[in-house]
Amino acid sequence: MAEGAGTLLDPWGTSHVKDYDELMRQFGIEPLTNELAERLPRQHRLVRRGVIFGHRDLQRIIEAIERGEEYAVITGIKPSGEYHLGAKLTAEEFIYFQSLSPKAFAFFAIADLEAYADNRLPLEESYRIAISNLMDLLAMGLDPRRVYVYRQSVELPVLRLAFIFSRAVTYNTMEAIYGPRPFGLYFSALVQAGDILNPQLPHHGGPKPTIVPVGADQDPHIRLARDLASKFREEFGFVPPSATYHRLLRDLTAQEKMSKRNPMGILHLSEPLESARLKVMNAFTGGRATAEEQKRLGGEPEKCVVFVELLTAHFLEDDKLLKEWYWECKTGRILCGECKARAWEIIGRWLRDHQERRAKMRDLAERLLEEKTLSQK
Ligand code: TRP
Ligand code: SF4
Repeated sequence: MAEGAGTLLDPWGTSHVKDYDELMRQFGIEPLTNELAERLPRQHRLVRRGVIFGHRDLQRIIEAIERGEEYAVITGIKPSGEYHLGAKLTAEEFIYFQSLSPKAFAFFAIADLEAYADNRLPLEESYRIAISNLMDLLAMGLDPRRVYVYRQSVELPVLRLAFIFSRAVTYNTMEAIYGPRPFGLYFSALVQAGDILNPQLPHHGGPKPTIVPVGADQDPHIRLARDLASKFREEFGFVPPSATYHRLLRDLTAQEKMSKRNPMGILHLSEPLESARLKVMNAFTGGRATAEEQKRLGGEPEKCVVFVELLTAHFLEDDKLLKEWYWECKTGRILCGECKARAWEIIGRWLRDHQERRAKMRDLAERLLEEKTLSQK
């Protein structure tokens, strides 16, 4: 798609969204209005702060919560590396939707096939990283009693669904959604549609509302899954899957997408504290050229990674404190060095607590995945 003709979302590469309103109009994503958000039993930080900006059919999930009816929440991870801040967003949303109702059941797909197709990651390697990712999820509060964890490569019902779906998809459809790609990626996309509709198969209790919390760049997958849900509605009774969308955040150096090629930009959840501290202290800010200027003009928190990404999106829960912090910066009462040191106290504490909890989760993580693997044989 030509520049200017709209946004091209690339779920496997680097997407950058300039204008979220335009994106929503282009693809028919609904804005997440206050009216709808207020019907959620509890508003997550990411909802309150507009990091989650849009949705498709979220009302279907809210209705299920209100009526005490079952619904599924599904996410997947390409286990190509340790959890970092980008993955943390989806993980938190996943856990949040699981926690909103005792009738919610979570599905966690380890996308080892996609990691193989996209990154040539050997399946055994995926397994090791997946355990580590699962430890992070458990440490962040995933309820192990209401989650089904599986690997794409051995999940026969999902693979079978992908194959059935392929009947209704031509090369032209795939090219229109994803651009020209190797078939491995097209196949991964069909498997992901299988992941998303898996919770609605008979052995998981049949059709039900399903929510998929994703970053904006994953919308092509959501559109494909919704299209397939309607094409196979008669056969399977699928309810079209719902989705929520979060903004794509910048990395610590203000690059638009986390890239492994820029290690100073990425904060891993299992990162040693000293290196995490260094990264935070070197993060891109909205500070002025000199201290004198900053005292006079104030900082620019809306441009600042410390303020926008680290505090607002990730680490500062307290809304009142966040607002005060904004004004302290804006009026030049605080300078970046002191501000980052203060931010680090909060971030460092979060990481330390997280890592302590995480270290105790290995057995549980292995068991969650093992149980599944055995029953496959
Ligand atoms: N494509 C997703 C990623 O790159 C992983 C994924 C696989 C997924 N299956 C899924 C996400 C189902 C949401 C729902 O991380
Ligand atoms: Fe960012 Fe803090 Fe500097 Fe303001 S004072 S620009 S919030 S680092």
